[in-house]
Amino acid sequence: MLDTGTLRARFQQHYGIPPSVIVRAPGRVNLIGEHTDYNDGFVFPVAIDRATYVAARLRHDQLVRVASSDLNEEDTFAIDQIERSNRPWHNYIRGVALALRVAGHPLLGADLLIASDVPRGAGLSSSAALEVAVGYAFQVLNNLNMLGEELALLAQGAENNFVGVQCGIMDQLIAVLGRADHALLIDCRDLSYRAVPLPPSVAVVICDSHIPRTLAASAYNQRRQECDMAVQLLRRWYPGIRALRDVSEDHLAAHSDALPEPIRSRARHVVRENRRTLQGAEALERGDVVTFGRLMNESHASLRDDYQVSLPDIDILVETAHHLAGCYGSRLTGAGFGGCTVSLVERNEVESFSRDLLRVYHNATGRTATIYVCRASDGVGRATDNAGPQE
Ligand code: GLA
Repeated sequence: MLDTGTLRARFQQHYGIPPSVIVRAPGRVNLIGEHTDYNDGFVFPVAIDRATYVAARLRHDQLVRVASSDLNEEDTFAIDQIERSNRPWHNYIRGVALALRVAGHPLLGADLLIASDVPRGAGLSSSAALEVAVGYAFQVLNNLNMLGEELALLAQGAENNFVGVQCGIMDQLIAVLGRADHALLIDCRDLSYRAVPLPPSVAVVICDSHIPRTLAASAYNQRRQECDMAVQLLRRWYPGIRALRDVSEDHLAAHSDALPEPIRSRARHVVRENRRTLQGAEALERGDVVTFGRLMNESHASLRDDYQVSLPDIDILVETAHHLAGCYGSRLTGAGFGGCTVSLVERNEVESFSRDLLRVYHNATGRTATIYVCRASDGVGRATDNAGPQE
């Protein structure tokens, strides 16, 4: 957790006045339900205890000034004339401000200072955390009346339309809705959700492979197109389907010959992953971690073989984890092509699990991974050590 006292002092140093509020929005790790959100399906993520913080103060003009707490990045723009910048970091913030205004929320200018302990580019949704934290800071400063789901949709819209990444809704939703000690089963069609408690004896262990995710964006967009193609082809028999969410395993089996590869495999992953996600949430609700772990392992095999978003070094992490004592299940998490794995591990085995996983991975690949044992935390809100009275 970042120290809000330090953040407040930096804000004062930089802008010559203290912030009126500090907010935080968490990164996420998805336990199961991968590449299902943009198919109107089910996901089961956890908000992690690493977050992006925004210290903020309203200005009484149209200017927005933004600085990162290490002052490596700075930006200034006029709130009534927002243009795209050639720096992605700027666009997350500008895009959210523009999305709020386009949705009809009047905004005044603001001074913002941003800090984060969500690793960037590791597949733990540092961008969604940034978008949601900035959106929430504007919401608080301008006293906007907005539901959490609306904030998530605006943040996703900013990423889709302004930053230009065609992500689904999972990351922004969990950054808003996350609940301490729970995972959320989210229906990405109607955005309804159910919080499922995580068993206290089990730890969520994230392992960052440190493989650069260079292919991720192009492969992601390609997978989305392949899913759309599967829906178009299957409509010949099932004209009512809107997304792969509406396709059952029986539907697929009946017409699999009509789907060329790799469309058939992509569709099979999504349809089965939706089933696994629902079964997994039910298993955890019964406290059945063994079944949940088995479903995680199946999810990984499907991401590797059918969806083809894993990499050999990620498979080494996952297969090593499968054989270590105390591990119920392990899989690639997030979009893939690098990034992180997530494992559910018996709490008293976490130390030896982490040590052995890092050692085997290093010996096999020459890479040094990083482990985060994460605690499920709450979604966006004011940072607990608050910055004092509001304007
Ligand atoms: C990325 C996207 C999400 C989701 C996952 C894959 O994290 O931002 O919307 O599609 O990949 O499950």
